[in-house]
Amino acid sequence: MISLTERHTFGLSANCPDIQTIKSVDGLVTILNKLKNQGVDENYLVLGEGSNTIFTEDINMPVLVNSIKGIEYTKTNVCHKMKVGAGENWHELVKWCIENHIYGFENLALIPGSVGAAPIQNIGAYGIEIERFIDNVEFFDTDNNVINTFTKKECLFGYRDSVFKHQKLNQRIITHVMFSLPVENELVVNYSPLDKLDNPTPQTVFEEVVNTRNRKLPNPTKIGNSGSFYKNPVITEEHLKQLQLSHPDIPWYPNANSMVKVPAAWLIDKLGFKGTSHGQIGCHKHQPLVLVNLGKGTGEELLYFAKLIKQKVKESFDINLENEVRIMGADGLIIL
Ligand code: FAD
Ligand code: EPU
Repeated sequence: MISLTERHTFGLSANCPDIQTIKSVDGLVTILNKLKNQGVDENYLVLGEGSNTIFTEDINMPVLVNSIKGIEYTKTNVCHKMKVGAGENWHELVKWCIENHIYGFENLALIPGSVGAAPIQNIGAYGIEIERFIDNVEFFDTDNNVINTFTKKECLFGYRDSVFKHQKLNQRIITHVMFSLPVENELVVNYSPLDKLDNPTPQTVFEEVVNTRNRKLPNPTKIGNSGSFYKNPVITEEHLKQLQLSHPDIPWYPNANSMVKVPAAWLIDKLGFKGTSHGQIGCHKHQPLVLVNLGKGTGEELLYFAKLIKQKVKESFDINLENEVRIMGADGLIIL
């Protein structure tokens, strides 16, 4: 067995039977053919940098790490166009763009992970979601063994959501992402703390996002974590009114279709979980939406604690927390 512990940012101890690196589309086809010859048809896992995946135990399937590199750049009168390999690092791409006076990604600075995983949950932060800049997503369609692309519309993007999150395991392996960033890009600075910047520029927005994230979120190279563990729940206005009777201070933000979004961090904080732990799994002392590995956490401890938080939130607020991270057990995804 080969260790996966360093392959996911939560850092729980786990192994898998084999790890292969995908370096190109042709390389991917070769790997898939080899797996087929070994009798492995669909039961493998494609991984980027493991910052949204938690291995809770050894898994019974080989792992294919996407490492397709390269940035193809062209410019029109109105747009910067880029075709980027799925294995490029997201934050390095953000930095490269800013160095080359290509603006728009700065609100999404310092989000860990690969470019190929960015469309999967439509990464978002500080008022921007990546769908805003996506033209097309190229993928290998394993049902038909062909390269195909989805337009932005076909990707069915939503809050931390896309068509790629609802497919059967490995149905579409993302190989490249095509971005389009306006030459005259407008800064988005209505989200705190960006709204407090004087005369903001792409560079100062980038710096403010990096500083804020470094202040608020645990660094996964120092303390194992996968960012927000749950999504921020979206509830009806009626439900909010009910909750306001007993919790007049509950924060909320308007959402589409007369719904409202409430911060899961507030719900978890209110229940007193912030800074507490179960075994070696903690609820982070500054950002309770982030569960952390205090050193030698186990999959059982994590699943117990994550289910307990979910259960208490349900009992106290009648809200179902949905996990934002992808939790892997021996044979596939675990839904809490
Ligand atoms: P992985 O964890 O490797 O993969 C994620 C999922 O996609 C897995 O199910 C995997 O099987 C699948 N997958 C990966 N690559 C491919 C591919 N090429 N083709 C098909 N399937 C694939 N996210 C946000 O949106 N906003 C944030 O602000 C944010 N902050 C974070 C902060 C921290 C400290 C951490 C640790 C995480 C944060 N995240 C955030 C989550 C994470 O950074 C993103 O989800 C990121 O896009 C994951 O990239 P990855 O390469 O590590 O994905
Ligand atoms: N809050 C508390 N107690 C705390 C911390 C926060 O009550 O200790 C409440 C406050 O009301 C605060 C609110 O939670 O205003 C929101 O907190 P924060 O601004 O830290 O953001 P978040 O909603 O917890 C979301 C994303 C992050 C993204 C940030 C910035 C989700 C699930 N999470 O976090 O994304 O970086 O906004 O845009 O949408 C991730 O996906 O992994 C991630 C880190």
